[in-house]
Amino acid sequence: MIVRLAKTVVMVGMMGAGKTAVGTALARQLGVPFLDSDEEIVRAANRSIAEIFERDGEPFFRARETEVISRLLRGTPCILSTGGGAFLSAANRRMIHDVGVSVWLRADLDLLWQRVRHKTTRPLLRTANPRETLRELYEARMPLYAEADLVVDGAPDLSVEDMAHSVRQALLTRP
Ligand code: S3P
Repeated sequence: MIVRLAKTVVMVGMMGAGKTAVGTALARQLGVPFLDSDEEIVRAANRSIAEIFERDGEPFFRARETEVISRLLRGTPCILSTGGGAFLSAANRRMIHDVGVSVWLRADLDLLWQRVRHKTTRPLLRTANPRETLRELYEARMPLYAEADLVVDGAPDLSVEDMAHSVRQALLTRP
């Protein structure tokens, strides 16, 4: 199916929610471009997210994140996956709300933890107790993710394709 998107669909939610995987599948199902703000930041900086956090600090990363999202939102409508912290800034939320449709991929903490526990690439989880850090981030962030236009729930038995289908349905039936 090839559609013409009226607005960019912005995937938001916690690390491990499946924003990139589901966004990629959704873009393929709809025949529209897929972009990932983390990937764009990494490409422009020519180093990994972990290296950027380590060498330049989180505020530098967040500034690049806002710039990249702002630039991508001005381009052709696409499916845009964002990093888990992108929707926390009020300025980013406003910008996304003004031009795009935000979709919160919601998943419970156990599922998120199962997905991220063996990955060492996420700088925010390089703590003495990453499970506890993930829980703290989750609790602090939930009310902000809840400001997204749409919510789609993940579950352990749902495939990426199923999730992409649920997002499509949510987009089609949104008020
Ligand atoms: C972050 C999530 C990461 C990445 C960075 C910060 C966060 O993206 O942007 O490590 O603040 O939750 P994913 O959500 O794709 O893991």
